Amino acid sequence: MKAARLQVMGAVAGLTAVWVIVAGGCASEQQRKGHELYAHYCMHCHGENGRQNEGFNWSSMPDPKPKDLSNKSEMSTFKDEDIFNTISRDMKDTSPGGDKIGDDDFAVPTMPTFKYTLSEDEIWAIVAYVRTLHGMKLEFKVEERKTGLAEALKTAQEKFDQAKQTYEAAEQKASDEAEKKSEALKKYAASRGALFAPASGEAAQKAVFPAVQANAWLLFEGGKAKISPDTVGIPKP
Ligand code: HEC
Repeated sequence: MKAARLQVMGAVAGLTAVWVIVAGGCASEQQRKGHELYAHYCMHCHGENGRQNEGFNWSSMPDPKPKDLSNKSEMSTFKDEDIFNTISRDMKDTSPGGDKIGDDDFAVPTMPTFKYTLSEDEIWAIVAYVRTLHGMKLEFKVEERKTGLAEALKTAQEKFDQAKQTYEAAEQKASDEAEKKSEALKKYAASRGALFAPASGEAAQKAVFPAVQANAWLLFEGGKAKISPDTVGIPKP
């Protein structure tokens, strides 16, 4: 039961995640938008055409300085996803108790992350624009990825519905069974002439005492018990 509930919750989380990704992204005007964003967020360091020493921040930047974004032989070694990840990189938390920072890690790289500033869609638009700086095109099929995600969403939806049905059926069955059992117990108790009124403590003792008393004397008088019940505080009824 718990597993079924967890499964349903997992499916909900999965659906939400897929939906967030599908909802973002619109391929039209991608490059124009990318150019605009590049001019605003990247140009002061990387230069108008991505060339070294072009951006006005260049001279004051410590090493490692940016590569030449207009150099095809160099930039073609990056996949679209790599460029995306560079722009949307994770920053380390340098505060006390924050992230562990290895010797090879840049805790604070010169290039900031745009992960929290720009949407996924905007970052893909920038990647598309950066590709034009060295005469390449964005290969990563954002649209296809969206179709794929839409399908994944559909499958996830179906799985979710299935899990929900299974969960509801299991819950129904469990509650039916519990009801049946309590009905059967009541019937059994009634057929045996027993009292079906759960009691505890002193009340319970009082309720069962007459039966215990009668039984004890029956055993004693029939010679099956050696000690007389009244010696242990059970008077003759
Ligand atoms: C404050 C200056 C600064 C800004 C703003 C900046 N970058 Fe960078 N960028 C760098 C530096 C320095 C590097 C190289 C070292 C590194 O990776 O941190 C770099 C590296 C890169 C690389 C990987 C190639 C390389 O040189 O290793 C790409 C691609 C890139 N930047 C694209 C962008 C884009 C696109 C934007 C805008 C969304 C941007 N950068 C904004 C400074 C900047």
